[in-house]
Amino acid sequence: MCGIVGYVGQRPAVDVLLRGLRRLEYRGYDSAGVAFFRGSKIEIQKSEGKLENVEKLINQFPESAEARCGIGHTRWATHGKPTTQNAHPHRTGHVVLVHNGIIENYQEIKRDLVHRGHQPVSETDSELFGFLVFEKMESGKSLKTAVAESFREVTGACSVVVMSEKEPGTVVGVRNGSPLVAAVDPKGGVILASDAQPLLEYTREVVFLEHGDLVLGTSSGISFSDLKTGATVSRSTSVLDWSPAALDKQGYDHYMLKEIFEQPSAMVDTLNGLLDRASAESFPLAAQPAVELLNTAERIVIVACGTAWHASLMGKYWLEKWARVPVSVELASEFRYRDPAIDKRTLVIGVSQSGETADTLAVITELRKKGFPTIAVTNTRGSTLAREAQAAVFTNAGPEIGVAATKTFTVQMLTLLCFAAFLGKRRGQSADADEIFSQTLRLPHLLSGYLDVRSPLRQAIRETAKKLLNLRGFFFIGRGYCFPLALEAALKLKEIAYVHAEGYAAGELKHGPIAMIDQDIAVIVLAPNDAWREKTFSNLEEVKARGAQVLGIGNPRDESLRKVSHFWIPLPEMEIHESLIPFVLTPVIQLLSYEFAVLKGTDIDKPRNLAKSVTVE
Ligand code: G6P
Repeated sequence: MCGIVGYVGQRPAVDVLLRGLRRLEYRGYDSAGVAFFRGSKIEIQKSEGKLENVEKLINQFPESAEARCGIGHTRWATHGKPTTQNAHPHRTGHVVLVHNGIIENYQEIKRDLVHRGHQPVSETDSELFGFLVFEKMESGKSLKTAVAESFREVTGACSVVVMSEKEPGTVVGVRNGSPLVAAVDPKGGVILASDAQPLLEYTREVVFLEHGDLVLGTSSGISFSDLKTGATVSRSTSVLDWSPAALDKQGYDHYMLKEIFEQPSAMVDTLNGLLDRASAESFPLAAQPAVELLNTAERIVIVACGTAWHASLMGKYWLEKWARVPVSVELASEFRYRDPAIDKRTLVIGVSQSGETADTLAVITELRKKGFPTIAVTNTRGSTLAREAQAAVFTNAGPEIGVAATKTFTVQMLTLLCFAAFLGKRRGQSADADEIFSQTLRLPHLLSGYLDVRSPLRQAIRETAKKLLNLRGFFFIGRGYCFPLALEAALKLKEIAYVHAEGYAAGELKHGPIAMIDQDIAVIVLAPNDAWREKTFSNLEEVKARGAQVLGIGNPRDESLRKVSHFWIPLPEMEIHESLIPFVLTPVIQLLSYEFAVLKGTDIDKPRNLAKSVTVE
């Protein structure tokens, strides 16, 4: 996902920018660039591919070492291919900018700009913002006012940092969704970035901008204002007094929390590995041995354990719907001792974060030896599963330290979603593929906009956890995509908070468990706006009538769900295809179990009795 750095001060700006961008590389990117002042003119150097390419360009410019003000960017392509032309920074006349996030109304903006005689040169939504700022500055407005006014014309969650040759030595940043962090350089000046990492080299005192904040930095200082009103606002400084261990956790209290928040970048890295990002197709799986195996599969069996099994169950929904291929999802420990009726046209996929889980491994090894086509989906390169299967596909979530799987669940789902949509396109069954693909590329941006330590969502989850804490038991219910999520939510709660929880298909509750319902039982109803919402709602009424404490989780505008629920967690507001809703709900259920565990005081990253990798059967 895109990374932003901006600097103005006494240090060599290009060096600060490149170092900062290096620290943001973990977010995943496919092009990069920097812009810096040479006198009163701005020079831009950018390239597709890695930062090294930009460094080589810069090396041909010895005078770049003189620059004291500049902006830099690593881009992960969403609108337009990962080419040099689409790379940031973008220039419109004297205005140069970098952008992270999505401008949702870019088509209208582009139409109006073209109508007014402008000619954007890239395929990006980002470049358009520069035209808006340029027009306003041409009519006499300051950079700050022009940026603020331009922002009022765009919708979508994003951040920008902008400079202009008309105001050398000034950087203006806005946060309206995607995070932006600012700090005063103790040597004089200001540094801005998409997260705190690039700032820590210079200072521990940082300001996390709030939504709707504008920051203006010059070599003599920093000021904050409200984007809408223009009024100056004061923002308090957080001192990131991180010990080496905390630095490793990047300031989060637990690895699990860090890993929940890393899900957007884990998605980006996974998509980068899976897809051919230069292709104009939607869901273009990069050429690799697994693709041929997928293409020829007449039936699919997925084997997994624990959280990976839940991700696999989710995969079944997409694979059957789009690829029209029969899928069975099997607990590896059961499947290996059964005598399953499968033939060689059945593709067997083993899904495992560690790639070492004994039961999953045993199934794949045995079936591969018997000549079945096998694919490993794993987060661990070099793992036994990856070596045993005929083909391996890697989820690039990075190391997951917390024992309870979080980000690996998301990328396992994402991988199976890509398999399903890819096959669906091949088999002509996926009418919405283009739209779902463009939304999938935008998801990491959207999620990073609300996955913020200080977000109202997290506060709401924490408050709700406090109220439910002492109940006797918990049922998570959902239908469709929300059924595997209900299973995963209950597993998370059991694993790290040690409370009794069960996940149920909402329609199944009445066939037994409803007997347990009374006022000491919470029923957590996963009911986003999807095809199953009405049916789930009826099941909610059934348990409410029997005294359950109901927590509704659904669309923020779902008034009837909110009113009927005793407790309520609204999902973040976003227009999204229903097949992608699991990616929005997942961090919510993970955070709910996390907050429970914090209140219970358990050992969150190393829950009792559990192992990260279960190498015994
Ligand atoms: C263990 C872990 C779970 C994990 C399961 C499968 O039980 O505690 O978090 O889901 O193994 O692990 P795998 O590495 O195969 O995904």
